[in-house]
Amino acid sequence: MFRSGFSTTLRVVLAFIPFAHTQEVDYSQFVNPFIGSEGAITGYAYGGGDIFVGGAVPFGMVKLGIDTYEDPVNQSALNGGWTPQGKVTGISLLHESGTGGGPKYGYPAQMPLANLEAVNVLDNLTYWQTRNGDDVATVGYFRTHFKSGVTVELSATRHAGLMHYTYPSSSEKHVLVDFSHYLPHPTRSWDSQFYAGGEIEIQPNSSIYTGYTSIANGWNLGPPVTIYVCGEFDSPPDEARTFSGKNTFPVGRHFRSFDNGTTPEPTFHGYSARSGPMGNRVGAIFSWNGTDGSSEIKSRVGISFMSVDKACSYKNEELSSWDIEKTTQAARDEWNRDVFSKIRVSPDGNQTRLALLYSSLYFMHLIPSERVGENPLWENEEPYWDDFYTMWDLFRNQVSLWHLIQPSYYESMIRCLIDMFKNEGFLPDGRSGNYNGLVQGGSNADNVLADAYVKGLRGKINWTEGYAAVKKDAEVLPFFDNNPVDSQGSLKEGRSALDDWIPLGYVSADRNTRAVSKTVEYSLNDFAVAQIAAGEEPGDYDLYMRRSAGWQLSWDPEANSRNFTGFVMPRFSNGTFHKTYNITNCGDCNWSDESYEGTAFEYSFVIPHDVETMIQLMGGPQHFEERLDYVFQPNTSGVDLGVNGLGITAINNVANEPDFGTPYLYNYLNKQYKSVERSRQLATDFYFNSSNGIPGNSDAGALNCWLVWQMLGLYPIVTTPVYLLESPWFEDINITVNHDRTLRIRAEGLDDGDGKQGYYVQSVNINGQPWNKNWFEHEDAGGIMTEGGEILFQLGSEQKVWETGDVPPSPGHIVLDESEKL
Ligand SMILES: *[C@@H]1O[C@H](CO)[C@@H](O)[C@H](O)[C@H]1NC(C)=O
Ligand SMILES: *[C@@H]1O[C@H](CO)[C@@H](O)[C@H](O)[C@H]1NC(C)=O
Ligand SMILES: *[C@@H]1O[C@H](CO)[C@@H](O)[C@H](O)[C@H]1NC(C)=O
Ligand SMILES: *[C@@H]1O[C@H](CO)[C@@H](O)[C@H](O)[C@H]1NC(C)=O
Ligand SMILES: *[C@@H]1O[C@H](CO)[C@@H](O)[C@H](O)[C@H]1NC(C)=O
Ligand SMILES: *[C@@H]1O[C@H](CO)[C@@H](O)[C@H](O)[C@H]1NC(C)=O
Ligand SMILES: *[C@@H]1O[C@H](CO)[C@@H](O)[C@H](O)[C@H]1NC(C)=O
Ligand SMILES: *[C@@H]1O[C@H](CO)[C@@H](O)[C@H](O)[C@H]1NC(C)=O
Ligand SMILES: *[C@@H]1O[C@H](CO)[C@@H](O)[C@H](O)[C@H]1NC(C)=O
Ligand SMILES: *[C@@H]1O[C@H](CO)[C@@H](O)[C@H](O)[C@H]1NC(C)=O
Ligand SMILES: *[C@@H]1O[C@H](CO)[C@@H](O)[C@H](O)[C@H]1NC(C)=O
Ligand SMILES: *[C@@H]1O[C@H](CO)[C@@H](O)[C@H](O)[C@H]1NC(C)=O
Repeated sequence: MFRSGFSTTLRVVLAFIPFAHTQEVDYSQFVNPFIGSEGAITGYAYGGGDIFVGGAVPFGMVKLGIDTYEDPVNQSALNGGWTPQGKVTGISLLHESGTGGGPKYGYPAQMPLANLEAVNVLDNLTYWQTRNGDDVATVGYFRTHFKSGVTVELSATRHAGLMHYTYPSSSEKHVLVDFSHYLPHPTRSWDSQFYAGGEIEIQPNSSIYTGYTSIANGWNLGPPVTIYVCGEFDSPPDEARTFSGKNTFPVGRHFRSFDNGTTPEPTFHGYSARSGPMGNRVGAIFSWNGTDGSSEIKSRVGISFMSVDKACSYKNEELSSWDIEKTTQAARDEWNRDVFSKIRVSPDGNQTRLALLYSSLYFMHLIPSERVGENPLWENEEPYWDDFYTMWDLFRNQVSLWHLIQPSYYESMIRCLIDMFKNEGFLPDGRSGNYNGLVQGGSNADNVLADAYVKGLRGKINWTEGYAAVKKDAEVLPFFDNNPVDSQGSLKEGRSALDDWIPLGYVSADRNTRAVSKTVEYSLNDFAVAQIAAGEEPGDYDLYMRRSAGWQLSWDPEANSRNFTGFVMPRFSNGTFHKTYNITNCGDCNWSDESYEGTAFEYSFVIPHDVETMIQLMGGPQHFEERLDYVFQPNTSGVDLGVNGLGITAINNVANEPDFGTPYLYNYLNKQYKSVERSRQLATDFYFNSSNGIPGNSDAGALNCWLVWQMLGLYPIVTTPVYLLESPWFEDINITVNHDRTLRIRAEGLDDGDGKQGYYVQSVNINGQPWNKNWFEHEDAGGIMTEGGEILFQLGSEQKVWETGDVPPSPGHIVLDESEKL
């Protein structure tokens, strides 16, 4: 059990609890659900993980938690709902976890109130609640205490939430249901969510309410999301009144029914209230009389994107009990069974590491949201998912871990992605609220599909269609979506700069935004397309392999920075380079800049499919190694990450996705010990079992997953079947791969406690064979990742060049003719 403090997270003593009906370990006890809830400024969310804190099951559609408002807003981040400080604005069922940008979700909501004095349900400030003491969260469970005396306990199933409110014995008991509540974006209106209307109905003489609410916009500027609600209380209220009132949310111009100069008053109705054409706010107040009865009110709420009936059946079927303990236990069992027990280490080991491992697994299974049967857009038998937020984050290494430990969920995701292409025209790069967007660089679902394809994921995936999907990304310019932050191309889906990429071979800096990062990403995307073409449409293979070398056309061999020569640089459509471009400083590194969230210095290392050419262009192995050594030195960064960077001052920014793979590049020099040294250093410098224990937005768990791979001693090279060998953090790890096979990773000689450095690899053995390469492939050694087996590391304190075999492959290695280059 963990409590959130402002500066520390206190670990409460936990007994070893065997879980339900088995002798298995309850790994959920090691999870600290607050890791990432706080940023660099103690007590504030800004610069932290933007994580969700509350009750949820793995990939659950419902993530039930409190929404808060933390001042000052420039030090806050409302994206996950929970913030360390600030008032509670509501308790809602839909949330993201780990995302940046404009908040999404935070609805539908309830709020328990101990009195209605001075409460105007149309003026949210009048019913916001102050928290008292520390919040408590464990896997599947959340508790907070209000100054009003009300205690709130929460737990969730896949499509329903259970709220347990305990009121002071002498107080009144009310629950406000506000259908117009959502997570706002306090500092800007253009991508803030807004309320678009709803309807609420109370079933006469019962304790059930139903209806829907529609909330639009938010992060990806999506259309209204309509969510159907079916709520119930465990005892019939003595009074239940619906209300409606004018929509005076000041956000933008949307649906505002009159000037915000006056605070409106609600109109109370009988059993139902609806928004009508002006998008009026609707809700209800439920009240229970007297102080003689129970001081507890429980509510179970089902939601559905399809219908009220479906929402009600989720409530009834998934929450047959009103018991918070039982509901929490069921959630915990599911997490243990479907997530934590997939990677088993000894529960008696280093407790900090156990917390880091199982918390990381937890955070990488909160989104995307599994919504099988919950697709409101088209009807068919394919599974449905939402909240891919975003592929830009997920493709780096997270999908590769799901591939191993979540093969069923993962196959379902891939089928859904292809189905989205079939029904909407494009694969998503980002998607939330049933809507595609935003594309940060390339069409990175291509990489996801290719990674699954090259590792042999087939099942019910139709790869003819999968190939058609990625080929469309490679060939068809998406419709321009007029997003205000980029006047030069679509941010919704696809590759907005194909009009450069196909004729020029690179993305130009005069006709398109983010030329450097798009060029680098499109190159890997086309490599990915070629990997699927190899099996599905071999005649296309050469074309996409050739295009995958496009980054070389954007390589300026004369560009110089910090005594290193040769970088990917912005190049104009007339063929000249932007010579004065600042290689170590990308400015705002934003939508309209020449490179997105990374400098040319960083992106020059992000060519995983052709490291061989990258090394050559950097002047050969020795220059490459010097440059690599340099980017990890403190105080080298030309970009000030401020409090957003949690102290990162090196060019390599381990907190952001483009640089995830860079520390492992020493493997390509057969100096694996340096990869181990660097990556461990980064992990121990920036990841902690504390509220501010993650360096920035967790990005749907991408940062957490980076840490999991680090602890396993492996790193996948996405879009290829290659895994680099690094150095495990545990002596014995059993991983369930391919549904029911066991991959065991053992580390003999590991001796790294309290600053000791007995973690360098001395030798490796895979399935009994001495292994002289610092990498292996998915199907190597009799199918190590498909059939299971054992990887045995001998570790020690000597920094040893133990690998004598080939360096990891560069399957996208292409040598361009001089005439092709300039
Ligand atoms: C937020 O704004 C306040 C002034 O209103 C300022 O003192 C503080 O430094 C700002 N915080 C950040 C993180 O910029
Ligand atoms: C609700 O119950 C009361 C008291 O039993 C009854 O008078 C009233 O008619 C009922 N209302 C409806 C709509 O059934
Ligand atoms: C509270 O209401 C104000 C004014 O109507 C609005 O600007 C704000 O977004 C609301 N905040 C939340 C968290 O609902
Ligand atoms: C009304 O909303 C606008 C835009 O958000 C804001 O600038 C103004 O101060 C608000 N007026 C009042 C009286 O709250
Ligand atoms: C509950 O209180 C309300 C308001 O005081 C009153 O109208 C109603 O009759 C009471 N109901 C019961 C069942 O006591
Ligand atoms: C891994 O599995 C082996 C074989 O079943 C077992 O002997 C070992 O104890 C397991 N290790 C852990 C940490 O679970
Ligand atoms: C795969 O999709 C293609 C194109 O839609 C279709 O022709 C083919 O029948 C599908 N294959 C299977 C096995 O369903
Ligand atoms: C570049 O090399 C020169 C000459 O060796 C040296 O004086 C200078 O300090 C170096 N600059 C950097 C940034 O390392
Ligand atoms: C090439 O294009 C850039 C950007 O439009 C321009 O600044 C430069 O002068 C052009 N160079 C030549 C040689 O046309
Ligand atoms: C990026 O650009 C958007 C749109 O102009 C702006 O709202 C946002 O604050 C910018 N972010 C950064 C980090 O500069
Ligand atoms: C690039 O930006 C860095 C950091 O702002 C600055 O120190 C450096 O002088 C700039 N370099 C060039 C060539 O403008
Ligand atoms: C436990 O693990 C943490 C994190 O890796 C490390 O800092 C600490 O030294 C380890 N403690 C022992 C006693 O090994």
